[in-house]
Amino acid sequence: MNKINLLSRIQYLYKHENKNIIQYLKKISNTSSNSIEDILISYDFQAGNYTKSYKENPNAKKHHLKNLIEVLDDLNGCKTILEVGVGEATSLLEIIKSSRVNYDKIFGFDLSWSRIKYAKKLLEEGQLSEVELFTGDLFNMPLANNSIDLVYTVHALEPNGGKELEALKELYRVASKYVVLVEPYYEGANSEAKERMDRLGYIKGLEDKINQLGYKILLNKALNNDMNPLNPANIIVIEKQKDDHKPPAILCCPVTKSPLKFIKGCYYSEESLLAYPLIDGIPCLLSNNAIIATKFLDD
Ligand SMILES: C[S@@+](CC[C@H](N)C(=O)[O-])C[C@H]1O[C@@H](n2cnc3c(N)ncnc32)[C@H](O)[C@@H]1O
Repeated sequence: MNKINLLSRIQYLYKHENKNIIQYLKKISNTSSNSIEDILISYDFQAGNYTKSYKENPNAKKHHLKNLIEVLDDLNGCKTILEVGVGEATSLLEIIKSSRVNYDKIFGFDLSWSRIKYAKKLLEEGQLSEVELFTGDLFNMPLANNSIDLVYTVHALEPNGGKELEALKELYRVASKYVVLVEPYYEGANSEAKERMDRLGYIKGLEDKINQLGYKILLNKALNNDMNPLNPANIIVIEKQKDDHKPPAILCCPVTKSPLKFIKGCYYSEESLLAYPLIDGIPCLLSNNAIIATKFLDD
């Protein structure tokens, strides 16, 4: 079901009837799992909310992420870092500000363009405008194999219940050293929290699925500083098996995984013959943003 033509109706329901968008979208398509389109629409409408609550109480975020920051700081030899599903970069900002590590390159992407717009503004205000931000889908990441030393998520896999294996494989593909997950711990939740996670279509069974894929878990422990007791989370650190292949370029076409070059004001892949636009300076790297441009390089 294509829900793009429903956006103004959804805006009305969100603003005037305070409807939960993702539940509404699932109801009209009569499904129990969250589609990528449902997640995108729902988070895009909520853009601005995280920035607002972060600015009202930055210490709450700092406290929430304290254990994660310590874990990330102990991972040696990481020069590049990426937050997948970065949202409005409230976590990324706090992590980079508090970390003892000086990363050479910092990346963040999200499904939602509007949330990246807020992320950009927050990072500029926090003197971190060098962070590279773009839109993308974690199931088709616009990044080359082994291109980022440390790939992490903070509650971004969360709404993608049922697709845990695909998500893990894609994160592992892009990481060159570590994947770190702060994600719901369904198995350790009480019955009220489990009922909520089931209703919201959250992921579950991450440890089992990581073992099923044969990945090496270095650490799996409770985050402890959960902001929401109905959403307990664990920190899981996965170490990637050594692979010395270094990619020629970090950004790649999400469809073919061939290198993307910034040419004539957009990102272009000579191999896939697809162009990806920038809107208000934000590269739009979802596969359905691709524009077929076979003659793009012609004069
Ligand atoms: C709960 S928010 C967390 C945002 C951010 N990580 C933080 O800590 O503030 C989840 C974010 O994950 C993003 N997300 C969910 N599924 C995604 C996917 N398949 N690809 C990219 N981003 C995704 C959502 O758009 C949303 O911004």
